[in-house]
Amino acid sequence: MKNHILIEKKIGSFKKKINVGSDKSISIRTILLASQAVGVSKISNLLESEDVLNTLKTVKRLGIDYSKSDNIYNIYGFGLNGYDIKKNTILNAGNSGTLARLILGLLVKTKHKIRLVGDKSLSKRDFSRVIKPLRLFGVRIKSKNNRLPIEIFGTNFLRPINYEEKIGSAQVKSCIILAALNTPGTTTLNAKISRNHTELMLKSFKYPIKIISKNKRDKISVKGQNQFKAFRYSIPGDISSAAFFIVLTLLSKKSQMIIDNVNVNQSRIGVISILNKMGANIKIKNKKIINGEEIADIHIKSNKQLKSIDCPSTINSSAIDEFLIIFLVAAKAKGISKFKNLGEMNKKESKRLDLAEKFLKLIGIKVKRYKDNLNIYGNPELTLSGNFEIKKFLKDHRIFFLSCIAALTLGGKWKINDKDSIKTSYPNFLKTLRSLGAKIN
Ligand code: S3P
Repeated sequence: MKNHILIEKKIGSFKKKINVGSDKSISIRTILLASQAVGVSKISNLLESEDVLNTLKTVKRLGIDYSKSDNIYNIYGFGLNGYDIKKNTILNAGNSGTLARLILGLLVKTKHKIRLVGDKSLSKRDFSRVIKPLRLFGVRIKSKNNRLPIEIFGTNFLRPINYEEKIGSAQVKSCIILAALNTPGTTTLNAKISRNHTELMLKSFKYPIKIISKNKRDKISVKGQNQFKAFRYSIPGDISSAAFFIVLTLLSKKSQMIIDNVNVNQSRIGVISILNKMGANIKIKNKKIINGEEIADIHIKSNKQLKSIDCPSTINSSAIDEFLIIFLVAAKAKGISKFKNLGEMNKKESKRLDLAEKFLKLIGIKVKRYKDNLNIYGNPELTLSGNFEIKKFLKDHRIFFLSCIAALTLGGKWKINDKDSIKTSYPNFLKTLRSLGAKIN
């Protein structure tokens, strides 16, 4: 079967209310935490994407059963360290950095060694960021060049750690918090600010975790070995998926959109702050707090006059997965936009900063790259004609989404390969686009 799409026409005006796919970060975390809770957790609106299905398969390999009825996944937990681990267990995290890094934190006390593998893209990514703190807990880890495959040997002699997290990576922070759950004593963490779903979930389950936020850092302390009860959780929409529809609306003529029920946690909405600073009209309405997370509806109107931004890098971690699509707005904005210290983008599912530079050049936008900084020379008149083909992007779902939004808002005839990549985070992406009137073959 063909694994590409063709887009040959811009999208027309629309005025619609939509839902986007459920939050991937939260979906993965609810499964992992349910696998360590006591009793049957019930999760509704779980994102059924490959990264999340791989998380379900992973906990199943570790002896945790699950079932689905209607829209609810039941996950049968046996409490902390309640995994039933067989000899020679191999876990496959597929494409998911979040699953791979977080699950290692839950394997610190296992009685047999476990081998963790992943797909081609994940096998290129660096794991030293989690191997280093895990070794401090007393865990033995074998890996070549800090890449997958990794072998982890749990221990009964875990010791709590006191760690300074300098990258601003939620995956590293969460790995350490999860390792702390099974470790006696109190683990403390001084972390550069990043998404805080793991902490908020544990807090809402009344787990003894303390967080003090000050000067863009979080001081976190986790008391180990306290059981927590199974829980109910309804997963909200993913701002990282919503971002593509926000930009689609901004760059389309005379259009409006409401995206219902999206997670608008402060540590995730950098994209909204950045786009509003560029002159967008994005409003967050009807805010509620559920399980400690802020959920709201996002209202967007299209906008002809967008201006450049000198983007402060303190905002980077709260928009880290959205810069690709933010760059497209910069390409259409008046003036030179400046983005700094984006080296982390090159450590994602593909080298996203390098690919973004190539992409912008492909659509005729002048860019200047200096190390991890990117200047984008916007052109408000930008429209495209002729043929464009997107291939060889390590099947990175977000490059695929970016290409679709560019094709639908700028024009030209586009062939976008590796359609299957959308299964990673948002299997219904094309369906939602079509519901807005997009012509996609
Ligand atoms: C994620 C954290 C981010 C993000 C990734 C999901 C998470 O990665 O890019 O898509 O769920 O914790 P880092 O923590 O490595 O920055």
